[in-house]
Amino acid sequence: MVPRAARISDDRDGSPHERRIDGDAHRSCCRAPYEDRLGRSRRRSTRRAEQVRLLRLGHSCIREAVELLGFGSGSMRTIGVDATYRMDVAALERALEDDRAAGVRPIAVSASMGTTNTGAIDDLDAVADVCSRHGVWFHVDAAYGGPAVLLPEYAAAARGLARADSAALDPHKWMFVPVEAGFVAVRDAEAMRSTFSLVPPYIRSAGSATGVYGLPWFSEYGFQQTRGFRALKVWMTMKHAGLDGIRDRVAENIALARYLAERVRATPQLELAAPPGLSVVCFCHRGGADLNRGLLERLQLSGDAFLTSTELDGRFVLRACIVNDRSTRNDVDRMIETVVRIGAELTSGTAGAFP
Ligand SMILES: Cc1ncc(COP(=O)(O)O)c(C=O)c1O
Repeated sequence: MVPRAARISDDRDGSPHERRIDGDAHRSCCRAPYEDRLGRSRRRSTRRAEQVRLLRLGHSCIREAVELLGFGSGSMRTIGVDATYRMDVAALERALEDDRAAGVRPIAVSASMGTTNTGAIDDLDAVADVCSRHGVWFHVDAAYGGPAVLLPEYAAAARGLARADSAALDPHKWMFVPVEAGFVAVRDAEAMRSTFSLVPPYIRSAGSATGVYGLPWFSEYGFQQTRGFRALKVWMTMKHAGLDGIRDRVAENIALARYLAERVRATPQLELAAPPGLSVVCFCHRGGADLNRGLLERLQLSGDAFLTSTELDGRFVLRACIVNDRSTRNDVDRMIETVVRIGAELTSGTAGAFP
C-alpha cells in the first residue's frame, strides 16, 4: 500500500543528506528503476553520461517523483501523442535511440493505461517491445484505468500491462474504495527490497517465506515505515462487491460515458473535444474558452453537476470522468441540460453578474 510520508537518506551525489517527501505509488517505484539500472548502489555518483530520462510524462505525479528524487526536470523527456492522445511509439523509439547516440542512458518509460486528461490507453504491448529492445524499465500508470482489465474489451491492454516492470493502481479511483488507497505492483520484489531496505540489524528478518525467522518488513519495499491498514478497505470492498461487482460497475461507468458522448454529439451547442476514453469525456460548449470557463464556474457552484476542465492542444475544455457507481443516465441528462442552459445565458448576456 502507498507510503504517505517518508524520509529517505540519499548520498548518491557524495554528500549525505535527507529529503522529506510525500509518497505515492509512482514516487516509490521510480526509485527502483534508478537503482536497478544504475547498479543498485546508493553511493555511486551520477556522472553526466549516466543521466536518466523518464519518458512520456502522463500525470504530474511522475514529474514530481522525478524531481523529488533529485534527477531534475532536465532528465525527463515527454513523448508526443497521436490524434487519439496515445503515446507515439515510433517517437518513443527515436527518443531512446537519440539518447543512446548522445551518450545518455535512459532508464525508464512511463506509459498510461487511462490518462487523466482523456482516458487514453497507450499501446502497452508496443511500448513493452520498445522497452525490452532498449533495456529500459517499463512502468505503467494504471492508477485510474487499471480496473478496465476486468473487461474482455480491454484484453489487449491487459496483455501489455502484464509485461510491465511496475504498475501503479489507485483503488480509490475506479475500484470504489474510499480515498485514499494506492498500490504499486513490481515484478522484481528483490529489486524493490534492495533499493529501499535500510532496516537496521535489530529488526531485520531473514525474509523467510515461512515466517519462522520473520517476514520481510513492508518498509523494506518503499519509503514508509509504520503504515495504516489501507489494505483493509480494499479487501472489504473486494469482498463486498466481488470482482464481478467491480467489473459490472466499471462497465456501467464506461457505458454511461458513451451515452454522454452521444448526447454531446446530438446537441448542436456542444462538441466533443477528444475521442472518449474509458469513462472520460472531454467536450466544450461552442463559443470559446472564456465562455467555457464561466460555464464551468457556474455549473460547479450550482451544485447540479461536477465537471473539471483540462487543456487539449492548448484548448480549454470541460472534462467529465465518471467513477461513481451511483451515477445514472438521469444525472448525465441533467448535467447536459444545465450546461446548455448556462451556455445560453452566457451567450445571450442574460447570465447576470458573477459571482
Ligand atoms: C492517471 C493518474 N495517475 C496518477 C494520479 C495521481 O493520483 P493520486 O493523486 O491519487 O496520487 C492520477 C490522479 O488523478 C491519475 O489520474
